[in-house]
Amino acid sequence: MVMNKFSEQRLKEIDNVISRFPDGKQKSALLPVLHMAQEDFGGWLSVETMDYVASLLNILPIEVYEVATFYSMYNLKPVGKYVFEVCQTGPCMTRGSESIIQYIEEKLGIKAGETTSDGLFTLKTVECLAACGYAPMMQMGKSYKEHLTKEKVDSIIEECRNHAAKNN
Ligand code: FES
Repeated sequence: MVMNKFSEQRLKEIDNVISRFPDGKQKSALLPVLHMAQEDFGGWLSVETMDYVASLLNILPIEVYEVATFYSMYNLKPVGKYVFEVCQTGPCMTRGSESIIQYIEEKLGIKAGETTSDGLFTLKTVECLAACGYAPMMQMGKSYKEHLTKEKVDSIIEECRNHAAKNN
């Protein structure tokens, strides 16, 4: 298996992030470096990738695993091209997130935590994303989809399918 490696450009960015912290505190760069790894290496963090990040930051692999397994924004297994992270915390729940999650599950034929067989969609349930005033909501990549309804979900899925078809 070919091991993932950051480009020279990325390595410079990583050095730059590390340089913002005092000497010996390079572990503080872990969160942004994991984001870069996830972005560059297929949207998820394999054990090999986490070990590589540990070696770059000169910390123990377990220190990387602890962080990567704690935050839901890091994916520890392969994900689809579009990842729906639906908030299931109280305020979103009182505004119907449960039925939105169920609707997405039925529509895509998967359960939360799974990916469609065509590799397009992954459904995750996550805790509060700090957009409670726009409940129910979900994060998709870098954007927030708010005030979700079944109709809105239909059009988001449709847009994703069209986008995927155009970019194939
Ligand atoms: Fe859903 Fe806060 S409870 S964004």
